[in-house]
This record gives sequence, C-alpha cells and structure tokens, in this order.
Amino acid sequence: MLILSEETQTVNSFAMDVRNGLGQTGQKELPSKYLYDDVGSALFEAITRLPEYGLTRAEERILREHSDDIAEHLVAHGMVVELGSGSGRKTRQILEALAHHKSMTYCPIEISSAALVRCERELDDLAHVSILGFETEYLDGLSKAVARRKPGDAVVVLFLGSSIGNFDRGSAEELLHKIRHAIEPGDMLLLGTDLEKPLTQLIPAYDDALGVTGAFNRNLLARINRELGGDFELSRFEHVALYNARERRVEMHLRSMETQTVNIEEANFTFLCDETIWTESCHKYGKNEPPEIARRTGFECNAQWVDVEWQFAENLFVAV
Ligand code: AVJ
Repeated sequence: MLILSEETQTVNSFAMDVRNGLGQTGQKELPSKYLYDDVGSALFEAITRLPEYGLTRAEERILREHSDDIAEHLVAHGMVVELGSGSGRKTRQILEALAHHKSMTYCPIEISSAALVRCERELDDLAHVSILGFETEYLDGLSKAVARRKPGDAVVVLFLGSSIGNFDRGSAEELLHKIRHAIEPGDMLLLGTDLEKPLTQLIPAYDDALGVTGAFNRNLLARINRELGGDFELSRFEHVALYNARERRVEMHLRSMETQTVNIEEANFTFLCDETIWTESCHKYGKNEPPEIARRTGFECNAQWVDVEWQFAENLFVAV
C-alpha cells in the first residue's frame, strides 16, 4: 500500500514535469533525473566504457592510484553514504581501503532500483561492510541514512562521477549547503568534479561514434511513451551535444527534425523544425573552483587529487 502510493506519486510528478517542461513557452526542457530509469542507467553504464568518455576511467584511476592516501584522510569513519551509487563499481576501492580494520555501514542512495540491486550484488562480498540501500532521491536518502548513525560514528558522503555537474552552479551550491546541514562538523564529503578541457576531447565524450549517448538521450522520449502513453516518433528527434561557453557546460538536447505534434494522453505538444528539448547539463569546473565552493557551503577542501590524462578532480571536503 505504501509502496503503491509512492509509485503513484512518482508517476504523477514525472507526468507533471513533462507537461510543464514541454508546455512552456521558449526553450522546452525535461529534468535530467528522468534519464536514469532502468534502461537509461544501463545505457549510462555503457557510456562509462566508451573510448570517448574518459570521465569514469579518470575517476577510477584516481581512486585506485591514491586509495591509501584517500583512505588515510577518511580514517575512523563508520558510515559511508553514496549519493547516486550507480553500479557501485568504483566504490569497491574506497570501501576496501576503508574497511581494512573497522566494520562499517554502506548506504547507497539510488533512484533506479535496478542499479541499486546491481550495486548491492557487486559489493556484498566485502568483509566488514554491511549494506543498507535506499531507493529515493539524494537528500531524502541522506537524511534517512544518517538517522541510523550510531554514537561515535562519523559519516563520509560520496558524491562521485561529477554528478554534481548536472546542477546549475547556483543549485549545486544549494545542494551542497543542504548536504552540509544534514551532517555534522568533522563529517566528510568526497566530491568528484569533471574539469574544463579542450572541446576536441569534451564534445566526442557526449556525442560518441556508436551513438550510445544518443540512445541514452532519446530513451527519455521512449520512457515518456512507455510510462505516460506518449506517441513520440524517436526517429524524428536527433541527439545534439553542444558546449555553452558562458555557463561552461555541455548541454544535451533533442532536436526535432521536422515540424510535428506529439500526443501524451490528452495533451498535444507542437515542435517546430529544429526546435530542441534541453535534457541535460554537464557543468565543467576550474581546478580552483571546488575549494571556493567548499568555503561558501560550510566545508573546507582539505585535499584534491587530479587525473592528468583526463582532467578530473576528486575533492575532499570536511564539514566545519
Ligand atoms: C552522470 C552527470 C556525470 O555529465 O558526464 C554522460 C551524464 N550524460 N553522458 C556527465 C552524461 C551523457 C554524466 N553525469
């Protein structure tokens, strides 16, 4: 009964966000969180293995090559909460290094139940680690997880993979501020941020030759068809990745290749030829930005590890 009502609410807010995002005048947009249903999460997992997409491998290199150093900064912490754990592949290295001597609780927070199940399966052989997953959004999951901290436990929040990059710079700081308020002084946040790099390297990462990113993007329309009874003709929408230099972000759009009308239940939406739906933003940061952001959001950046092959920074924030 409770699950049913939660599901109904999820469907309703998806329907509402789609109706508002496609119905508004000016730039049509859909919130990027809806890209990550079970199909979308599997496609994103495939993206992380594409030759053009160096981001995930860069972070894995950092976590592998500096695992002892990172673990040393994080010592004696009893609970690890991961925001948007995905498959949990990179988290293994951190948990192995951390759970060396001490037992701990690992709480993955994930909106894709399939990704959550994969994550629990991937990590359930780790000694000294008990796993407690939450199928919900970031802040809701974080507050539910920290409510279970035991006396003397400290909390390490993992926010990896530059997921923060999905948020506008202002909203990102608001989110970090809220994370800060959910935890205590001395608790930590390990934050992955993708850095600015040449466009010749950046654009192909979001417009790969195989078309996996295009499939990931267009799955959003397929999802509207599946879950909301839409009649999007997928072949009439083209994947676009562009760099917005003023905002320093890659934007993904879906471009209507002709003038057309789409029906979703009883509502109609008209797309002009070349009109786009903006589906995701991936913000890129300067190396000095994360320490400044830390200061403005109630943290101090105590360490930073940068991958040179693919400019990416892992930042260790301590709550002050
Ligand atoms: C999950 C937000 C980190 O920004 O690189 C990858 C999403 N979208 N390819 C990114 C994404 C298309 C990804 N993040």
